[in-house]
Amino acid sequence: MHLPFEPERESQSGEGFVAASQAIMAETVTNVSEYQAIAKRKLPKMAYDYYASGAEDEWTLKENREAFSRILFRPRILIDVSTIDMTTSVLGIKISMPIMISPTAFQKMAHPEGEYATARAASAAGTVMTLSSWATSSVEEVASTGPGIRFFQLYVYKDRKVVEQLVRRAEKAGFKAIALTVDTPRLGRREADIKNRFVLPPGLTLKNFEGLNLGTMDQANDSGLASYVAGQIDRTLSWKDVKWLQSITTMPILVKGVITAEDARLAVHSGAAGIIVSNHGARQLDYVPATISALEEVVTAAQGRIPVYLDGGVRRGTDVFKALALGASGVFIGRPVVFALAAEGEAGVRNVLRMMREEFELTMALGGCTKLSDITRNHIFTEGDRLGRPLPRM
Ligand code: GLV
Repeated sequence: MHLPFEPERESQSGEGFVAASQAIMAETVTNVSEYQAIAKRKLPKMAYDYYASGAEDEWTLKENREAFSRILFRPRILIDVSTIDMTTSVLGIKISMPIMISPTAFQKMAHPEGEYATARAASAAGTVMTLSSWATSSVEEVASTGPGIRFFQLYVYKDRKVVEQLVRRAEKAGFKAIALTVDTPRLGRREADIKNRFVLPPGLTLKNFEGLNLGTMDQANDSGLASYVAGQIDRTLSWKDVKWLQSITTMPILVKGVITAEDARLAVHSGAAGIIVSNHGARQLDYVPATISALEEVVTAAQGRIPVYLDGGVRRGTDVFKALALGASGVFIGRPVVFALAAEGEAGVRNVLRMMREEFELTMALGGCTKLSDITRNHIFTEGDRLGRPLPRM
């Protein structure tokens, strides 16, 4: 397959060397979190900081992980777990596991193959890749990597013509759903980006907006991305716009960024096809709860009328199990994908999906579950349960 970019290290070194170093990498990396330190060593500071940082005090960033560690298991024993079925479907499309890829922007800043590598890895794993509006590869370019189940993450620009055009292009390129980001009327205050005066490195653009005079961001006194958002993103976005979006596309809409019961009910009424419980990887409003802590409230409010998904802090197969036990229909992972991409390109993203899959399968086996519908609220207990909330009926 023709790729517009060959990975730098392949052009500079022999194939044998690449294969050997990838083999060492695959052997030594034993969980997805380990890619972060490798990415930190490999990436320019501005790029690493952009991916790694959260908003302000980064309380929510830590809490997204820590909240998972406060949920414990109630495994069931002596169940035949010789066969485990992790398959499921999302918006009517069959996928190999309830683990999908979140949108993360500017992936060519992590690796020259960027979004191409992620798309191919997701496709090989039989799961969903969500492409960011702010990708460094266009919807058409990603589609050209071959078949795959792809969702498109949408930021609504002030210029609605731009949005309409982009949504139509995504639909034409075979994208299956829109993940509408609703938590970013302005960009959260990411202090590392302010210190670094973040801008895209030379040669990279917001590829979907090239030709619309919106593909580049200017150097600013603080974060170039924050200034870009202030200039272009529509702060007036409201629930009526979900209806507007429905009027311009046949793609189902997932509302990404819901963390309260009130908004879950509004999402159901808006006609959305699903909800993604997300705090934007803790990059927007600091001191919102971890998504895993907000999940049950949202699931209860959605009353099973539309599926609820989760992203934020998912790093282990045990995290996936906990999210499903609290009612999620699936999870999305973000940062591990960009860090693995930085470490070893497509092989890294494949490895992340493989490790997550294997850990989740093991968790199911050790928890006494052979299929996703076996996973119940009774398989876990939360802090709330320990503080006296009665366990659900056995
Ligand atoms: C991109 O979506 C970001 O939040 O930086």
